[in-house]
Amino acid sequence: MNNFVYRNPTELIFGRGQLAVLEEKAKQLGPTVLLVYGGGSIKRSGLYDKVISLLLSAGCRVLELPGVEPNPRLSTVKKGIELCRQEGVNWILAVGGGSVIDASKAIAVGVPYDGDVWDFYTQKATAQDALPLGTVLTLAATGSEMNRGSVITNWETQEKFGGSTTFPTFSILDPEHTFSVPRDQTIYGICDIMSHVFEQYFSHTTEIPLQSRFAESILKTVIENAERVLANPEDYDARANILYCGTMALNGTLPVGVETDWATHSIEHAVSAVYDIPHGGGLAIIFPKWMRYVYRENVQRFKRYATEVWGIDPAGKSDDEIALAGIEATEAFFARIGAPTRLADYQIGDEKLQVMAEKATPYGAIGRFKKLASTDVAEILRMCL
Ligand code: NZQ
Ligand code: ZN
Repeated sequence: MNNFVYRNPTELIFGRGQLAVLEEKAKQLGPTVLLVYGGGSIKRSGLYDKVISLLLSAGCRVLELPGVEPNPRLSTVKKGIELCRQEGVNWILAVGGGSVIDASKAIAVGVPYDGDVWDFYTQKATAQDALPLGTVLTLAATGSEMNRGSVITNWETQEKFGGSTTFPTFSILDPEHTFSVPRDQTIYGICDIMSHVFEQYFSHTTEIPLQSRFAESILKTVIENAERVLANPEDYDARANILYCGTMALNGTLPVGVETDWATHSIEHAVSAVYDIPHGGGLAIIFPKWMRYVYRENVQRFKRYATEVWGIDPAGKSDDEIALAGIEATEAFFARIGAPTRLADYQIGDEKLQVMAEKATPYGAIGRFKKLASTDVAEILRMCL
């Protein structure tokens, strides 16, 4: 196991009816709040009215930034920063999925920063200061509710990059807020959560039994609950378990003491930057192909994955066969729940493979399980066609 320091300051407020604490939180955080949300799902579900009512009861002046796009754009972030500066906003409340939270994080660190907020996404600057941020999460997927990551798309340059920004001060997670998530977004969320675990599980670090078991337990819990939630979107316990898995998959618990990979996320972000496809859909296509491309770097790790997560019986099989059986089980699962399996599912052909491969590797080779140059990325993308 490697050395590590672990700190996570986000207060996680989980369960039915927990939205009520918002009033108290709002009183503590200041009189002027910027409410950030997406394309209207919170209005259709009734959550918007409840949030407004709690903020008004707390005596807040509420400004709004609606219309945050899935794959949130830099131009929207800049609008939010401008509004906060003009109106003297004290804190930000993000109500929505990962995109709304990520845009809110960018606004939170952009307001006190003199330079261009894009600097935080191009490794030109590190965020030192931020407005306080609260979140009400409505979609289980990214883990953004309890980490400091934020992923923003600069549509002018067709670049989609992650930056290290700010932790939410608090995040309210009521599984009932995820009942209305449509089937496709539920599937993408499941694939995203599993992919976060994969990025931190396929590693060459040895003697990490606890981290490995944490990771395997998240994967098994997601797998057990996936079909249940798809069969009944209002199954509270299935939604709750997937929601909690989403947070635990990317709140800093899994990577402690472990060398992590993250190449597949860079590849997916490059695809989204060019074609604007849903993040989890892209991952469902790319991850199994990445697995096939790299598994020989550490067959033992893939054997463990196959037997522990998928219950593959190793009897009579070679190491390669066991590893491949685990990868096939992953592919079969994604197909069974209705995730996309090929880039063609998004009408993506081979025209821009090289462009995407270059965009995935702006600073050179990516990944640690196997270092991937742009030629490797192009090869993996070709396998996805
Ligand atoms: O915009 P609205 O109308 O709210 O609709 C959204 C959106 O269309 C809808 N939705 C969300 N909650 C809903 C709902 N519809 C009905 N009922 C609800 N309760 O779902 C659609 C997708 O929302 P979005 O926020 O884009 O999804 P997700 O949470 O998957 O976030 C994806 C973004 O997060 C980034 C991705 O790259 C992508 O840009 N990521 C952020 C990470 C992080 N900050 O740590 C890590 C991830 O790996 C990921 O890269
Ligand atoms: Zn992701």
